Amino acid sequence: MKTYKIAAIPGDGIGGEVISAGVEVLQALAKREGHFAVAVDTFDWGGEYYKTHGRMMPANGRDLIRHHDAILFGSAGHPDIPDHVTLWGLRLAICQPFDQYANVRPTRILPGITSPLRGVEGNELDWVIVRENSEGEYAGVGGRVHQGLPIEAATDVSMFTRAGVERIMRFAFRLAQSRPRKLLTVVTKSNAQRHAMVMWDEIATTVAAEFPDVTWDKMLVDAMTVRMVMKPQTLDTIVATNLHADILSDLAAALAGSLGIAPTANLNPERTFPSMFEPIHGSAFDITGKGIANPIGTFWSSVMLLDHLGEAAAARRLMAAIERVTGDARFHTPDLGGHARTTDVTAAVIDAINGANS
Ligand code: IPM
Ligand code: MG
Repeated sequence: MKTYKIAAIPGDGIGGEVISAGVEVLQALAKREGHFAVAVDTFDWGGEYYKTHGRMMPANGRDLIRHHDAILFGSAGHPDIPDHVTLWGLRLAICQPFDQYANVRPTRILPGITSPLRGVEGNELDWVIVRENSEGEYAGVGGRVHQGLPIEAATDVSMFTRAGVERIMRFAFRLAQSRPRKLLTVVTKSNAQRHAMVMWDEIATTVAAEFPDVTWDKMLVDAMTVRMVMKPQTLDTIVATNLHADILSDLAAALAGSLGIAPTANLNPERTFPSMFEPIHGSAFDITGKGIANPIGTFWSSVMLLDHLGEAAAARRLMAAIERVTGDARFHTPDLGGHARTTDVTAAVIDAINGANS
């Protein structure tokens, strides 16, 4: 029997609660499917680790997870530690060296969930946002000089490479091609950002020629926010830079009903390194330890993890279980206006996996 080695990194805040729920569900699913097993190694990296060791993960941290089949990540962020330290010390310290350059964020209004958009039904909002995940505004290029003096200066330079833009465009066109509508929107800001974003547009046009069956258009990021709200039906696959997609994906998650539901895959498509799967939400210290975190974002991320491992049938079974459970308001956590607890949702999803609550 095939055993998948999963590295679980719960991280901070509600990360621990949702990742243990996710592991429980993966184990239940493996048992139900019968032909694979899941072996989980859990790593206690994050804010508390930082307080003891002065770093978010050990110096050889990546070596410890380098040969796992996939990584399941909770969230990083700690009230006592600056956000840029937690981000660069853990999440980006994994994503960037593991070259997980394609960040994929599907958005749908799941059964039983109400979109804040008036009159928009489930099937009218079905998007996948592809976020460039290795460079751009998150390249980390820049610096500060004359710190604390009146002449202090600081730069954050966004860095776009032809190779980096080509590969994310190709990934996005290929994904668009695999979806029924074969529709791609390339988000840009080449009116104001007249160097890198102009190159971004040029590369989109070149790569588009390789995909004659994909219909594509270009949208300035500011106008894109309007289109997402006013004409959600006109969008399908979306590709954007690291920062633009960061912002648009929060909007997308909110329009689909809750940040607690949205999943993410950080993919290394060449499979040279493990890919990493995580709910889009943060560490949410305001509700940490209360047992009310919504685990659906982690479950949906686990669907993406299973798909990546080639376990398509298991992925479909889990997604169907998730949709059955969101369709029942008794299992809505407070972020969805309900009273359910993390453990209620988890138990319901496991029952659905086992066909018990149909
Ligand atoms: C995301 C998050 C992160 C990001 C934060 C936690 C730094 O917002 O995954 O979208 O900006 O990349
Ligand atoms: Mg974000």
